[in-house]
Amino acid sequence: MSKTALITGASKGIGKELAFLLAEKGHDLVLVARSAEALKKIKIELEETCSVSVHTLVVDLCDAVSAQAVFDEVKKEGIDIDYLVNNAGFGDYNDEGKNHRHSRRHE
Ligand SMILES: NC(=O)c1ccc[n+]([C@@H]2O[C@H](COP(=O)([O-])OP(=O)(O)OC[C@H]3O[C@@H](n4cnc5c(N)ncnc54)[C@H](OP(=O)(O)O)[C@@H]3O)[C@@H](O)[C@H]2O)c1
Repeated sequence: MSKTALITGASKGIGKELAFLLAEKGHDLVLVARSAEALKKIKIELEETCSVSVHTLVVDLCDAVSAQAVFDEVKKEGIDIDYLVNNAGFGDYNDEGKNHRHSRRHE
């Protein structure tokens, strides 16, 4: 039986990569980030290629009410969350001017 994962910060970077990995394992997803267009593209690609259900939430998690908004939306949609990947944040890490970000398969 498929499980459902909620991933914050899923529009790019590590969160996006995890979305693809979990979808490839057949898990349904709830993807959270601020970038509506990026989330929409990921949803379309994952639903087409992995035959999973992807729900997107455009939310700024810096807002004080955002966590409640995510909870309310998930509850309203009747989605049970099995896994939480609470990943949203900043991803630029530099060491002596070098950027250590890895190239990403899905960008
Ligand atoms: N990359 C590394 O080497 C590294 C190392 C240690 C820890 N981390 C941590 O791992 C996490 C992901 O890193 P990454 O390299 O994948 O980062 P990234 O490529 O910058 O992606 C960050 C993700 O978080 C989302 N996000 C940022 N602020 C948000 C907000 N206020 N509300 C909702 N979503 C927000 C972004 O989406 P939107 O812009 O669309 O909202 C994006 O999807 C971060 O928490 C970072 O601190 C990364």
